[in-house]
Amino acid sequence: MMKAFGYGVFCTLVLAIAGITGLVASGSLPVAAAKPESTLVAWLLHTAFERRVSREATSIQLPAGLDVPERIQEGARNFASMCSGCHTPPGKEASVVSRGLNPSPPKLVNIKGDHSATELFWVISNGVRMSGMPAFGPTHSEGQIWALVSFIGYAESLDAVGYSQYLLEAREAGHQLMGEGATGDGHHHRHFDEEPAPESDIGATPGSQSENHSGEPEPTAVDDAPERMGTEGGSSDHHDHGEHDHTEHDHSEHDHGDQH
Ligand code: HEC
Repeated sequence: MMKAFGYGVFCTLVLAIAGITGLVASGSLPVAAAKPESTLVAWLLHTAFERRVSREATSIQLPAGLDVPERIQEGARNFASMCSGCHTPPGKEASVVSRGLNPSPPKLVNIKGDHSATELFWVISNGVRMSGMPAFGPTHSEGQIWALVSFIGYAESLDAVGYSQYLLEAREAGHQLMGEGATGDGHHHRHFDEEPAPESDIGATPGSQSENHSGEPEPTAVDDAPERMGTEGGSSDHHDHGEHDHTEHDHSEHDHGDQH
C-alpha cells in the first residue's frame, strides 16, 4: 500500500519534471518585459521578495544618526546620480528605461512603502534578481548605502518643488564639503568612472557609526546631475547655507579630477 503510494508520487514527479522541461524547451514560456506576468506569478514573486527581504533585514543593525542632515544630503546627491533614472522623483517624467522595466520601479515617494530602514539597506545592497534593480553593495560602501536609506525616508514627503530645492541645497552643501569644483553642477562626469568604493560585506552588521565610513574618499560623482534631470539651474546660484559646518568631515583630501 505504502509502496504503491510512493510509486505514484515518483511517477507524478517524473511527469511533472518532464512537463516543465518540455515547456521550457518548447520556447513557450513568457520572457518579454513588455508583457506583464499573470497575477499568480506576480504574487509569487512579490511575496517571495517581501518575505526574503524581511528575513534578511533582521540581521542588519541600524546605525545611529540616519537623520543627520549631511547624511541625508549625501543620499540626495547619490540618488540623483544613480537612482532617479529608474525611480522617478516628484515632478519629473519617467525615463524611457523606467517605463520599459517590468516590474516597474516605484517612484521615489513610493519606494519606502512599508519597508524598514534595514530592509531598504538590504535591497539597495543586494538588488532584486531579474527585475532591473541593481545591487549597489558590490560597488558602494555601507556608509553610502545608509545615506541613500536616509534620503529615501526623508524624500517620502517631498513634492516637486521640495525635491528640486532639496537637491540644490544638497549639492551646495556638497560643494562646501569637498572644496571648490567638486560637485557636478556645471559639468557631467559619469558615475561609472569613479574609483570603486571599498569592500562592504553585504547584509552583515554595518557597524554603528553614523559618520562617514572610516575616512575613505567619497565617490567623485555622487552629486552628478544626469542630463535627463534638467532641473538644476546651473551652478550660478551659490547661496550660502551658513548652518552647515563640515569641518569635522574628512573629505578634504578628496582627490577629485574635475575643476570648474
Ligand atoms: C535600472 C533601473 C534601476 C535603478 C538604476 C535603480 N533601481 Fe531600485 N528598483 C528597480 C526596479 C525595477 C525595482 C522593483 C523591483 C521589484 O518590484 O521586484 C526596484 C526596487 C527598489 C527598491 C524596493 C522597493 C519596493 O517597493 O520594494 C528599493 C528600495 C530601490 N529600488 C532603491 C534603489 C536605489 C536607492 C537606487 C539607486 C542607488 C536604485 N534603486 C536604482 C530599478 C532600479
